[in-house]
Amino acid sequence: MTNFQRGPYPATRMRRTRRHDWARRMVAENQLSASNLIWPLFVFDGQGRQRIDSLPGVDRLGTDQIQLEVERAVELGIAAIAIFPATDPSLKTEDAAEAINPDNLVCRTVRQVKQAFGDSIGLICDVALDPYSSHGQDGLVQDGYVVNDETIPVLQQQAIVQAQAGCDIIAPSDMMDGRIGAIRKSLDASGFTEVQIMSYAAKYASAFYGPFRDAVGSSGNLAGGSKATYQQSPTQSDEALHEVALDLAEGADSVMVKPGMPYLDIVRRVKDTFAVPTYAYQVSGEYAMISAAAQNGWLDRKACVMESLMAFRRAGADGVLTYFAPEAAQWIRESESQS
Ligand code: PBG
Repeated sequence: MTNFQRGPYPATRMRRTRRHDWARRMVAENQLSASNLIWPLFVFDGQGRQRIDSLPGVDRLGTDQIQLEVERAVELGIAAIAIFPATDPSLKTEDAAEAINPDNLVCRTVRQVKQAFGDSIGLICDVALDPYSSHGQDGLVQDGYVVNDETIPVLQQQAIVQAQAGCDIIAPSDMMDGRIGAIRKSLDASGFTEVQIMSYAAKYASAFYGPFRDAVGSSGNLAGGSKATYQQSPTQSDEALHEVALDLAEGADSVMVKPGMPYLDIVRRVKDTFAVPTYAYQVSGEYAMISAAAQNGWLDRKACVMESLMAFRRAGADGVLTYFAPEAAQWIRESESQS
């Protein structure tokens, strides 16, 4: 046997604090709890559930099902839910008028959930026209171009009907210029001074939104159309900071970066620069990727989901919008009761 000379040894051994589970927990720099999770839900006008092929495990929920799922979210301690409508195609028009109907699917759902659950969970609604427009764009279209200033009054009215229904957080995802200030002004003028604005401030023109567009039924309508004239180009980084600065100056209470995993660098820059509540959206395509790989047995679903969510926390996100929210909250609970 070769008689190796032992040492000299390193004085610093990184492995000491990694040796036991208790030691690893003691030095953990980041934590993930159910309070960091926001659950996006799709609703349709009817009863029961509708499958979404490109989002396996995520269904569109009928009126009876939303009640059950929100109950589950409250029980799991999830902070908030975001409600997205699969609007009946017969109600989609060029001018997206259904968006400002105080009795549209989203408003009815918000009233139902508020009545049943009060303030035990936060309610978030998107402000954008795509679930209501026949062309699938987030704003009004004139001569083939999504027009900014003409769209803003519609967005303001959309925010008002949602606030009237009981929405706690208005989340403009449309990326029109100046809409945060305009919406803040009209909310305040209508007495909704306590309604928050979570701005989709750094939102990229991303191919990862595909399954979401299937879920709200806008992919066919958009048909090859692009959102590149208003959503940011994936080439941009400084520009995201500019967007966030504007939205904060206009009155946003919190900001969002979207998509999530491919844009963690942006999450970190936003958090470091502005030190405001910062959220990331692990979007539908990210959910679909992990789910598909797990279904094939290529990835461990639980391990990858939890690692991805911790990565958002490490990057500086205060919270994550994720379709994995209830599963993750359940796993967090189980791991807490074990340790
Ligand atoms: C609507 C909106 C989109 C998403 C959230 N709000 C799609 C888009 O901008 O085309 C995407 C969410 C997801 O992919 O999970 N403006």
